Amino acid sequence: MVPAAGTRPRTLGLVPTMGALHDGHAALVAQARAQNDVVVVSVFVNRLQFNDPADFERYPRTLDEDVALLARAGADVVFAPAEEEVYPDGPPLVAVSSGPLGGKFEGASRPGHFDGMLAVVAKLLHYGAPHPETAVPVRYRAYFGQKDAQQLAIIRRLVADLAYDVDIAAVPIVRSGAGLALSSRNRFLGEAEAEAALVLSRALFLLKQRADAHEPLGLDDAEALIRSQPLVDLDYLEVVDPSTLEPLAFNCRETPFTGEALALVAAQVGPVRLIDNMPLGGA
Ligand code: PAF
Repeated sequence: MVPAAGTRPRTLGLVPTMGALHDGHAALVAQARAQNDVVVVSVFVNRLQFNDPADFERYPRTLDEDVALLARAGADVVFAPAEEEVYPDGPPLVAVSSGPLGGKFEGASRPGHFDGMLAVVAKLLHYGAPHPETAVPVRYRAYFGQKDAQQLAIIRRLVADLAYDVDIAAVPIVRSGAGLALSSRNRFLGEAEAEAALVLSRALFLLKQRADAHEPLGLDDAEALIRSQPLVDLDYLEVVDPSTLEPLAFNCRETPFTGEALALVAAQVGPVRLIDNMPLGGA
């Protein structure tokens, strides 16, 4: 809720994005809107997190449409800085390392991606922070999508390890009616590829069904389902601890599922690398 005129905001929500916004981003803004007096959305395509320069060049830039979507979603401020504002002296000389969390899964196939992501998130969290001299203390939250589960785990470590005064909020994945996790890159999928890609969420829902029933997950069945689709080139399907991203071997195959875990999947489908995930167990 926006505070009444003359009153001071007590809560501020920051939603960092790279633009090319879709309903998944609208869900981030909606959650921030529901929980904060003021909602700020940043739109910045961060060159440093693209390990492939061609991928950076072709990343969709749709600022006018983004601003319209953000107005409808209820954002108060859109912050869309130029590259020179974010990196006035060129790429930073002092960097935050994503450490062991950043070297696996997406980090293994996109070297440097998570360090580049942290370079900008470390700054955006400062740019968005409420001014320390406000008379009333302002609670500060930043919103990230569960879709990028590894990114979220790394940002949580950034905030914990470097003592940022911000609460990180995770917003559930938004899916198409057929189950495909929404992504700015889905627009590059042909019709047959988009149909084939549905096998990823089907495999994840199979695991969830078994986890909910406390059955063995049978990871091999989920993997076989994905491999049965010739247009989908599976990179990994793994069940991990949600915070450390360490594989949970005991929970994956023959023993009945217990506790909490995260199933992660990544695959190349036509020109697009797709990632998806599913929280297993828990409340
Ligand atoms: O998830 C994204 O869109 C980006 O990685 C982020 C967090 C905005 C940093 O550029």
